[in-house]
Amino acid sequence: MDKLLIEGGVPLQGEIAISGAKNAALPILCAALLTREPVTLTNVPELNDVATMLKLLAQMGVKVTVEKVGAAGNEDAPPGADSPRTVGAAGNEDVPPGADSPRTVGAAGTAPLTVTLDASGLDNPVAPYELVKTMRASVLVLGPLLARCGEARVSLPGGCAIGARPVDQHLKGLAAMGAEIGVEQGYVHARATRLKGARLFTDMVTVTGTENLMMAACLAEGETVIENAAREPEVVDLANCLIAMGARISGAGTDVIRIQGVERLHGVDYRIMPDRIETGTYLCATAATGGWVRLTGAFASALDAVIDKLMDAGCEIVLERDAIRLAAPRRLKAVSIRTAPYPGFPTDMQAQFMALDAIAEGTAVIRETIFENRFMHAVELIRLGADIRIDGNTAFVQGVPRLAGATVMATDLRASASLVIAGLAAEGETLIERIYHLDRGYERMEEKLAALGGRVRRVK
Ligand code: EPU
Repeated sequence: MDKLLIEGGVPLQGEIAISGAKNAALPILCAALLTREPVTLTNVPELNDVATMLKLLAQMGVKVTVEKVGAAGNEDAPPGADSPRTVGAAGNEDVPPGADSPRTVGAAGTAPLTVTLDASGLDNPVAPYELVKTMRASVLVLGPLLARCGEARVSLPGGCAIGARPVDQHLKGLAAMGAEIGVEQGYVHARATRLKGARLFTDMVTVTGTENLMMAACLAEGETVIENAAREPEVVDLANCLIAMGARISGAGTDVIRIQGVERLHGVDYRIMPDRIETGTYLCATAATGGWVRLTGAFASALDAVIDKLMDAGCEIVLERDAIRLAAPRRLKAVSIRTAPYPGFPTDMQAQFMALDAIAEGTAVIRETIFENRFMHAVELIRLGADIRIDGNTAFVQGVPRLAGATVMATDLRASASLVIAGLAAEGETLIERIYHLDRGYERMEEKLAALGGRVRRVK
């Protein structure tokens, strides 16, 4: 299993490009299930979660073609050394995109994918346990499958490293739209001749729940209103893609989304938005090492809560049209945070800020309100010398002048990112085990960090 070896204490300096957003790409890939016409997506990040989703779609009968883009962030450039490949019906379903070909890395360390999905031959509306257990976002096929095929069998995701994470709200919404839903042998079995528009209210703000229901409602009969909808920018990106496919959606980005069902959707060419959490992670990594960075292709307005806290911590931040620059102070000031649905402070940045607070001047209080078990990184940060006390959903972090390298274990995607940040700031060597979590959600992280002067090496 791969590990990451980090020699800490080197300020990150330079410029890198931000990749496409994982949490926008995953639902948008599923949106292709809603039409018989080809959907072409650009700026798709090359991540293990994307490979898993493509595998899932391919085994349903979707024809998947993956092309690598030659230069960083430039879709007009000719594809890299490898020619377009097809996964699924006409190809090899077990191979994640690009696994067998040399990597095409642009100057700033990105090699986005262009993915074309053709769901005209969709014939197996099933998401098997083997794939769903490795990626919870697989549940995003449920709404589109039901709307398009009138039937879906999707394995229940179960718990994960950050909490129980049920999908009851997804099911409640689909049932309100007339679906018959049963759970048999760990699978949700949903059926509906045609879904009917309804007024839906989710008990809590749920991102993939909102996305699943919005996709299902696109082909339903009549109007659906989703109240208490998630306002995350990724929900808006999905809505924009659906609208470009012919869906009639208004209110995405607010907590009431209205969808007028249509008979059918058509194909589209759509570009995935930049990853705001990747952007925030590199800002934090630079802040922790006392360096400076310019992140190109970033979407600053989706990061207000994070940028505010970095400024409170003493960083200088300049927003350009589609880039962000950060210069870090000699020592950061502790900043308290409380996670909340968008536009609040994102839970997906909580672990990275705990790493910053661990070495900042002062005490920070970190309150996690979205997931019940998202402090697994704290014990690993303590192994590096951090002073952290956990009480329920609250962490009290007393900053220390320095951390010291050690061997630590990654437990989930964002926890891994926090250990990378701490390792970059620590004195000496840090070895991070189980970095397959990082490969699920950060495109070529070690190459991007190396481009900024970080001493980071993947070891087998
Ligand atoms: N919840 C329920 N029932 C439901 C749905 C959600 O109880 O039917 C609860 C969850 O257990 C959680 C809260 O509601 O306590 C919010 O969960 P949400 O459904 O919003 O999370 P998600 O949609 O499963 C997405 C992201 C996560 C991100 C969260 C919160 C994707 C693919 N995943 O998950 O991203 O943390 O929203 O913003 O979009 C990550 O990228 O590392 C990641 C975990």
